Amino acid sequence: MSESMIIATSLQELWQALRLLEGPLGLVPTMGYLHEGHLSLARRARQECRSVVTSIFVNPTQFGPGEDLSRYPRNLPGDLQLLEAAGVDLVWVPTPEVLYPPGYQTWVDVELLSQPLEGAARPGHFRGVATVVSKLFNAVRPEKAYFGQKDAQQAAVIRQLARDLSYPIEIVICPTLREADGLAMSSRNSYLNADERRAAGVLYRALGAARAAYERGERHAAALLQTMSAILAEEPLARPQYLSCADYDTLAEVETLNEKTLLSLAVFIGSTRLIDNIVLG
Ligand code: PAF
Repeated sequence: MSESMIIATSLQELWQALRLLEGPLGLVPTMGYLHEGHLSLARRARQECRSVVTSIFVNPTQFGPGEDLSRYPRNLPGDLQLLEAAGVDLVWVPTPEVLYPPGYQTWVDVELLSQPLEGAARPGHFRGVATVVSKLFNAVRPEKAYFGQKDAQQAAVIRQLARDLSYPIEIVICPTLREADGLAMSSRNSYLNADERRAAGVLYRALGAARAAYERGERHAAALLQTMSAILAEEPLARPQYLSCADYDTLAEVETLNEKTLLSLAVFIGSTRLIDNIVLG
């Protein structure tokens, strides 16, 4: 752990700073506008690693046309304060030119896991995520990297890419942090107005109702999805995009729940798209 937090922008600055840090190194990749969910990853890395690096980069290649890249919330001074308080040693804040210099043309595509769910709703999203995460891994070369369970498909894609590309990095997936009404913490919650924020609690109520049905013994995916739909239908501001009951590892939809199952959903609340999930079994 270093005396005071170092901030790097270029690759050269990053590598110079990394030489000052003792391993094992934990990496917490983020897109900034940090909340308690991100900080819980940084704190976990702080507990498990000798040095902690956080990256802050709003990765343009994981946003589709018409998505919220230009208005994605940012607050670098606030983020740096929070990271310093969480005991982070080094913050890497690359510019788009550092990670995607002119003429950039190399991509990482986790073919099958990237297709359903978020991949179907946001074509190209996981190619952008897998590419930038690979680049962060290559540049920082951590022993451990920390991601949130809230982005369950992203976690599956990153676990797969780490295996497929032989990264000697342990991928640590940390629990979703929630607000008092169960809403999963997300930088995008800042888009919600007061009515939408109240309405957004419906995502977790829907997941909770499905969990309760599962705990009463229901094992048919259709019945669990119907339970979720019924709860969502009670909220006029909610417009579901997909509801899914899928195998935890392959993300293939299941009819009957036997093994570990990922119950997930994407719902528009007004114009804000929110995702959430729980794991059953
Ligand atoms: O989860 C995120 O914040 C981003 O998708 C990640 C992993 C930092 C890649 O840009």
